[in-house]
Amino acid sequence: GPTVLVDTYGRVATDLRVSLTDRCNLRCTYCMPEEGLQWLAKPDLLTDDEIVRLVDVAVSRLGIEEVRFTGGEPLLRPGLVSVVERCAALTARPRMSLTTNGIGLKRTAHALKAAGLDRVNVSLDTLRPDVFKTLTRRDRHADVLAGLEAAHDAGLTPVKINTVLMPGLNDDEAPDLLAWAVERGYELRFIEQMPLDAQHGWKREGMITAGDILASLRTRFTLTPEDESARGAAPAERWIVDGGPHRVGVIGSVTRPFCAACDRTRLTADGQIRTCLFATEETDLRAALRSGAGDEEIARIWKLAMWGKKAGSGLDDPSFLQPSRPMSAIGG
Ligand code: GTP
Ligand code: 5AD
Ligand code: SF4
Repeated sequence: GPTVLVDTYGRVATDLRVSLTDRCNLRCTYCMPEEGLQWLAKPDLLTDDEIVRLVDVAVSRLGIEEVRFTGGEPLLRPGLVSVVERCAALTARPRMSLTTNGIGLKRTAHALKAAGLDRVNVSLDTLRPDVFKTLTRRDRHADVLAGLEAAHDAGLTPVKINTVLMPGLNDDEAPDLLAWAVERGYELRFIEQMPLDAQHGWKREGMITAGDILASLRTRFTLTPEDESARGAAPAERWIVDGGPHRVGVIGSVTRPFCAACDRTRLTADGQIRTCLFATEETDLRAALRSGAGDEEIARIWKLAMWGKKAGSGLDDPSFLQPSRPMSAIGG
């Protein structure tokens, strides 16, 4: 019968993040090297049918209520619109969202909305095309802006923007980005850089912290903390901007961790369950699927995996080790 994904700390996972590909058309310096990475081989990727099957098991047997599609860059997956459409047709229809770099969204926003996608989060780190080019190593700033606008027009709302600030590159832009986002009705969130880059170049010293970001924003805006009860399991802490109605978020994974409220389970593009961004172990659901496991067996394996979820990221432990799978292959 129906049950839930609960761990030994009593947390219940109701939010599933599905990575659709590890590939990307940008090369953000905090994520991957210029030359890209060794991409997963096609036969190792879950097929569209397999993804829909697993989402079905998750929503009908395991209490998953929201599904987020991620990458790499999920718009690079040819079957994305059809996967969304098929998930929307499930008896226990989940809420669905997408985290994307926005390139190609101009072309697909309306189709995604029509297929049943509820909303999108778009990564945008800068308002300056030259800085964008340095940060992402690609000259695609205009495509991202066009994608954002298309998502907003298509009603994939609220459109949220994810921004990572990097020292010496875009760390002076927080107030400009907020003014820009407020004017257009996008909800801006700043993300602390996490040690999940493929190059292992992350350093705690010099990292732009939630405290730095708030201080920078307060040079131009009045920020009032939003009611804590409104946060739930959201990674973003939110502040009311200049008395409202707009909000700004800060995702302080490093200095203000929120692991105790975590409601997530993750599926990689090659069919591995991850209980956490920072998990060092995975559970092979693809092997189970491909050896003919039934829905009940899949659900049992998933529950068992979540039972092993750790209390937190371990970022503050002296023995912390970065997971071997980089952010782009986990799905953020
Ligand atoms: P909504 O607020 O529901 O729109 O989603 P979200 O903020 O969880 O999703 P999004 O994919 O936009 O992620 C924004 C940032 O939060 C990314 O940098 C993610 O890596 C980070 N994030 C998402 N889930 C977790 C998590 O479980 N732990 C940590 N530390 N960071 C997370
Ligand atoms: N630390 C924090 N955020 C990151 N992102 C990618 N790599 C990192 C990292 N090392 C962001 C992307 C995107 C979101 C899913 O995660 O910019 O907005
Ligand atoms: Fe691509 Fe996202 Fe990594 Fe940038 S952060 S290279 S957009 S996967």
